Parts: sequence; C-alpha cells; structure tokens
Amino acid sequence: MTSTTSIPNFVTFQDEELDSIFGQLSREVQADGENVISADALEAFKQKWMGRRAGLLGAISAQFKNAPKDRIKAVGERFNDLNQQVKEVKISTTEVFSFAKGVLPLDPTLPGLSQRLGAEHPLIRTSAEIVSVFQRLGYSVALGPEVETDFYNFESLNFPPNHPARDTQDTLVLAAQEAKPLRERLLMRTHTSPVQIRSMLEQAPPLRLVIPGKVHRNEAADATHSPVFHQVEGLCVDTNITFSDLKGTLDHAMKALFGSAVKTRFFPSFFPFTEPSADVQISCIFCGGKGCRKCKHSGWIELLGCGMVDPAVFQAVNQRRMELGREPAYDTEKISGFAFGMGVDRIAMMKYGISDIGLLYSGDMRFLEQFA
Ligand code: FA5
Repeated sequence: MTSTTSIPNFVTFQDEELDSIFGQLSREVQADGENVISADALEAFKQKWMGRRAGLLGAISAQFKNAPKDRIKAVGERFNDLNQQVKEVKISTTEVFSFAKGVLPLDPTLPGLSQRLGAEHPLIRTSAEIVSVFQRLGYSVALGPEVETDFYNFESLNFPPNHPARDTQDTLVLAAQEAKPLRERLLMRTHTSPVQIRSMLEQAPPLRLVIPGKVHRNEAADATHSPVFHQVEGLCVDTNITFSDLKGTLDHAMKALFGSAVKTRFFPSFFPFTEPSADVQISCIFCGGKGCRKCKHSGWIELLGCGMVDPAVFQAVNQRRMELGREPAYDTEKISGFAFGMGVDRIAMMKYGISDIGLLYSGDMRFLEQFA
C-alpha cells in the first residue's frame, strides 16, 4: 500500500486542475487495489480511502464547499467516479479476503480440490459377485449377527457340547459369560451357518437363501489364514431336493464365477450339520488342471464345504420354533435341503492373483488403489 497521500489542495477547480488531481488519485486507487493481497491489506485500503476520520475520500469532499457554484457539477462527477473506483476495489477483494471476519473465502481462480474416487474393496466386490450368481437362480439374501450365541453357532447345528468338531473352528468367546447356560453364552460367530437356523425360525419352507458375512476364528495369521475372514453361505430347502440339485447348482455357480471351462469335483467330508457332506474342488484356474505351484501340482483347488441338511438340524429348528410358539414347519419326512459355505477371501485371492490374505486387511492404499 502506498503511504497515505497528502490531501490534494484544490485552488481553481478548473478542468485542468481537476483532471490532474483526480487522474493522480485514480492511478493511486488502482495501484493500492493491486496491492490488496491479504485481509490486512484490505483493511488498510479501506482505512486509507474510506476511513470515517482520516479517509481520503472524506478529506477531498470536505474541500468542495470552496468550489464555485458553476464548478460543483464538474467536481461532483469526477468525485463520483473516484468513489465508484474505490468501492469496486473493496467489493472485489472483500469476496476473497473477508474470511478473516468469518465468511468463507471464495476464489474461483484457484485450482479446485479434486475428490479422490473410492473403489469397492476386492472382498466386498467378490462377495457381491458370488451373491449375484445365486440371486439370478432365485435366491434371496439373508444376514445375521457377528456376535452369536453358542446355540446358533454350534448347538442347533448339531455340534454337541464338548464334541471334537467344535475344535475345527477355534472360537473367540466373549468375556464374563460363564454364569450363563452354555447355549446362551456369546461368541464371535465362526461361520455363517447360524444364519441358516435364524432364517428357518423366521420362514417356513420352501426357501432359497444366500448369506454373505464376516466371521472370526482364533487362528494365527499366515498367507492363507486370517482370524477375520468372509464367507458366503447357501441354503435351499424344499420337497424333493437331492444331492444332484446340490451338484448342479454348485457346478453352475463355479462356472459363472471362474469361467465355463472350470470343472468341479466332490469329495466326501464331514460337517455335523450336513449328511452326507462334501468338499468341492475346482480344476485349477491357473494351469487348467495340468498341475502348477498354485494347486500344489494336483490340478485341483479346494474351495468350499457343502452337504445335505442333516435331519437333526431340522429337528433343532422345529423344537426352537415350538419354544417360540410357531408351527414346527420342517417335516423331515416331506422336505429336504442342501447347504454350502465358501471362503470369500480365498476366492478373491484366486480371482485377483493376491498371494497374501493379510493384504486384504492392511488398509494399504497402494494395494487397494489397484482395484479402482
Ligand atoms: C465351514 O465354515 C462351514 N460352515 C461350511 C459349510 C456350510 C459346510 C454349509 C456345509 C454346509 P470351513 O470351516 O471348512 O466350513 O470353512 C469354509 C471356508 O472358509 C474354507 O473352505 C475356507 O475357504 C474358508 N476359511 C476357513 N478358515 C479360514 C481362515 N482362517 N482364513 C480364511 N479363510 C478361511
């Protein structure tokens, strides 16, 4: 800001004098305006030109009482132009610098703040893809709580207390539950299968459900194991449901997920809540079944567990339904069903070529940005 100009002295009020003085003042307003680059400079500008006591505009107009009457119009016009010029500087710079007074700054000439676009996490994307394969087959989505009771996670699924099958799912239990009966004790669900029971309590057959969700096990992390991981469960209950329906459904789902060239094969297995039970393998998607490092040179990759719903599960559902005042509804003479459960993390790892499961939980942007 140029230092305060001495107040001009009008003598003749003739055009020549007025043009000279107002021309000089106009150049000074312009120069001062260009120097308004901060809230402080704006304040100084306003004080210098518009200040109530020492402002130049006021000091200049105070002299007009000495002007001859026939010069008043000429003086007034020039003064109004100068006044307007000062106001314009004030208005245009106030918009930018008035944030000092609590108003938001707005400078349309500054580059914008670009928003970084988010992307679906590969686990969510894979889970949604699996779910949509089954939705296209007429399955509905069901969800359940991650904190479960022992009853839903184990007992109703035919894991009796102290049965060794419980050891296959090393469980994280909530503290201070010992005073409760075993079936009411809270734990972190170790699989999505308890949602089978919760759904059958709510709905009578027929039902076709697909159940995505997060599960927890007390397991040490390594490249293929995480203490938190994701599953998608399936449940189909109706009259005349057979093991062939299970095989056909899963074969279709694996082809929809991994490509039509993929083959499936079923091996006998054991789960307390299905009988018979099977583990499903698909032909290795990396080598096409020839054998490579990824499939440990077997040509096959194990992907999920499945089986026909054990009648003991229907009986547990019926009993609980009656405790809740409902019809038993699951007549084991008339209905049958199949169920399956797959690990989403390992499927995502295969689909996207991820070698360490921990990357899915690291929150590392360099990893996640690759899926944007
Ligand atoms: C079960 O959890 C059964 N509830 C599946 C089931 C459902 C069988 C319905 C029959 C009928 P299992 O414990 O095998 O089964 O786990 C299923 C899948 O979860 C495994 O194939 C694997 O892909 C995945 N999985 C298990 N533990 C881990 C882990 N620590 N980290 C990542 N994925 C895991």
